[in-house]
Amino acid sequence: MFEIIPGILEKEWAEIERKLEICRPFTRSVHIDLIDGKFAANTTFLDPSPFAKYSKDFLLELHMMVEDPIKYLKPFGDAGFARFIGHIEKMPDQEEFVAQAQLLGEVGLGIDAETPVEAIKVSLDDLDSILVMTVKAGFSGQSFIEKNLEKVKQLAARTTIPVEIDGGVDAAAVKMGCASGVRRFVATSFLFGSGSPQQQFQLLKDCEE
Ligand code: DX5
Ligand code: ZN
Repeated sequence: MFEIIPGILEKEWAEIERKLEICRPFTRSVHIDLIDGKFAANTTFLDPSPFAKYSKDFLLELHMMVEDPIKYLKPFGDAGFARFIGHIEKMPDQEEFVAQAQLLGEVGLGIDAETPVEAIKVSLDDLDSILVMTVKAGFSGQSFIEKNLEKVKQLAARTTIPVEIDGGVDAAAVKMGCASGVRRFVATSFLFGSGSPQQQFQLLKDCEE
């Protein structure tokens, strides 16, 4: 069993809201990308407050591609986010991030395209999920890095917590990812890039073999 989670990477609230409304009929979980211009050369909408009115309708997952994810935890927790995935690359203190995020909801750590699994320093038992990037974090619409599924295999051999991948996800990636032990797939441009997002979502769900 696996889950497809729509991703939203946007600079304007109006566009985020438009996509949330599109997703409402077919998914409960959504993945919101948060980029501060320091972690990567891109910036997204950074204000948590307007999300509050959607926190009952959706499980809001926050993908924190920021220099110091710890400082964003409380404001986004207050807005009703339920799952916090912090990138470790610039994170000042992994244990502190995990401890603070646990007070607010589910906690995951994310590793960017070039980061090895060994860079995760906390016990996997303390996490609710792990995110393996299958593109370099920062932008939608890049090509899937298949070799990063090796990291998924390493993790799946060590833990039963869900491993999620993000970046370049299409039907072929879902098939390969399932065979490697991926349990959650984030898809952005595949869903919103052409045609009907709901049909695209269903197409990925139907990849289960
Ligand atoms: C990239 C973001 C992804 C991105 C995925 O840094 O974390 O969530 O939106 O976009 P696609 O599915 O187009 O690769
Ligand atoms: Zn993301």
